[in-house]
Amino acid sequence: MSLARVHNFSVSLDGFGTGEGLSQDAPFGHAGQRLHQWMIATRWWDPGGSGGVDDAFAQQHGVGIGAEIMGAGKFGYPGWHEDPGWKGWWGPNPPFHTPVFVLTHHTRPSIEMEGGTTFHFMDASPAEALETARRAADGQDVRIGGGPTTVRDFLAAGLVDHLHVVVVPILLGRGKRLWEGLEGLEAGYRVEATSSPSGVTHMTFTRTSV
Ligand SMILES: NC(=O)c1ccc[n+]([C@@H]2O[C@H](COP(=O)([O-])OP(=O)(O)OC[C@H]3O[C@@H](n4cnc5c(N)ncnc54)[C@H](OP(=O)(O)O)[C@@H]3O)[C@@H](O)[C@H]2O)c1
Repeated sequence: MSLARVHNFSVSLDGFGTGEGLSQDAPFGHAGQRLHQWMIATRWWDPGGSGGVDDAFAQQHGVGIGAEIMGAGKFGYPGWHEDPGWKGWWGPNPPFHTPVFVLTHHTRPSIEMEGGTTFHFMDASPAEALETARRAADGQDVRIGGGPTTVRDFLAAGLVDHLHVVVVPILLGRGKRLWEGLEGLEAGYRVEATSSPSGVTHMTFTRTSV
């Protein structure tokens, strides 16, 4: 069965998945790179990086994934839809190498990039988007790529089979929260936590019925 999976999703101790004040110059707002320093330090991100626990978790990001779904807020800065030339943050060869479905109320024609990534723009419910992405993934799993609003919506709709959240020991105080409105979510999942020497805690939520 094709699973819906979230990987390497970083939150602050107070539960924020991004900061406040997002812009083209500040993709994570006042959070800067603090949410992802653990990931940037891994071999998965940079061949000169470190192995170990963080790398082992990070490496799972692409394994068995045939498509991604992301929100408009991950694809670009607030207002990107007014820029007809905007093709995401990732340059001509984005690191997805699969179809990517961007949920947005401002749809536009699909954009084929180098390396197998094609961005498709959809105004659809999470369930409809997942059905479409599953067809495109051709039997493989679908990654729900973020940001926090999109992951939260998919969790609230009961659509996520595997969730990997990385709790980073910083307090952001403001931004967009992942857990808002998800009271009792853990009841449907087997939850495991692994502490890393880097200071982050990897938490995995695996649906008990999978
Ligand atoms: N912490 C992490 O690991 C992580 C991972 C990825 C990204 N991020 C960060 O998270 C931030 C973005 O997150 P976010 O919560 O602001 O936004 P987001 O989840 O990326 O996108 C939310 C937006 O997508 C559109 N959308 C969502 N569901 C839709 C639907 N069903 N139908 C149509 N449109 C829909 C809407 O935008 P429109 O109405 O404008 O179309 C909505 O405001 C960025 O700072 C990004 O860098 C963090």
